[in-house]
Amino acid sequence: MNIIKALENRKSVRAFLNKVVEKETIEMILNIARHSPSGVNMQPWIVYAVSGKTKQEIETQIIKAFEAEIKPNMDYQYYPLEWNEPYKSRRKETGLLMYEILNIKKEDKEKQKEQWKANYRAFDAPTVLYFFIDNSLEIGSYIDYGMFLQSVMLSAMEFDIGTCTQAALAEYPDIVRNILNIDKNKKLLCGMALGYEDKNAPINGYRTKRSDISEFTFFYN
Ligand SMILES: Cc1cc2nc3c(=O)[nH]c(=O)nc-3n(C[C@H](O)[C@H](O)[C@H](O)COP(=O)(O)O)c2cc1C
Repeated sequence: MNIIKALENRKSVRAFLNKVVEKETIEMILNIARHSPSGVNMQPWIVYAVSGKTKQEIETQIIKAFEAEIKPNMDYQYYPLEWNEPYKSRRKETGLLMYEILNIKKEDKEKQKEQWKANYRAFDAPTVLYFFIDNSLEIGSYIDYGMFLQSVMLSAMEFDIGTCTQAALAEYPDIVRNILNIDKNKKLLCGMALGYEDKNAPINGYRTKRSDISEFTFFYN
């Protein structure tokens, strides 16, 4: 696939076909993504590809914690603690657009909760990739990691696989670490739903907007 087309067409997929993604396909995707650059070639990525019973066990425990109103406890602060402009409006616009497509009204808290819970099931994708980073690494490695995540998403497209990177999947990192038997020295950055896109699902027809380059680029001579 042409690079420009891949960058323009990548989108978050939030409904999947009930079709397994073979281990070989996941390996091929990661085999391409591993070429991502990183400072002094540190390659800070550590990936757990989880499906089947283990995926189910993680989501069951996470939903249980969520239902019990146990507060999420991410290993790092992903979103700002205080939402300022223009980020506040962009966040609102994106959320409203999604609820509109799903026909969820602002006052329908129950439906909103159900939709949020779908996050914890990785939108029923057959596989979740969990992305960890060693505790000793610093903010610079998070830049590297972002590039790797994008590489995974773009490589997946080549195999007709849809993805949705999800901070939500990192809200209860201890549950994930416990089940996967991972020590506390690894931070969970995020998860990624991975599967074949359900092209008939309305949620997958939703496209987010982007600001014009004039809003974020400043040229000097
Ligand atoms: C690190 C990261 C975390 C994200 N977390 C979530 C999430 O928890 N749930 C979700 O539905 N989408 C999540 N997204 C997807 C964003 O909402 C999405 O990328 C953004 O709205 C732009 O839409 P697009 O990916 O379709 O272009 C996340 C994306 C990134 C890069």
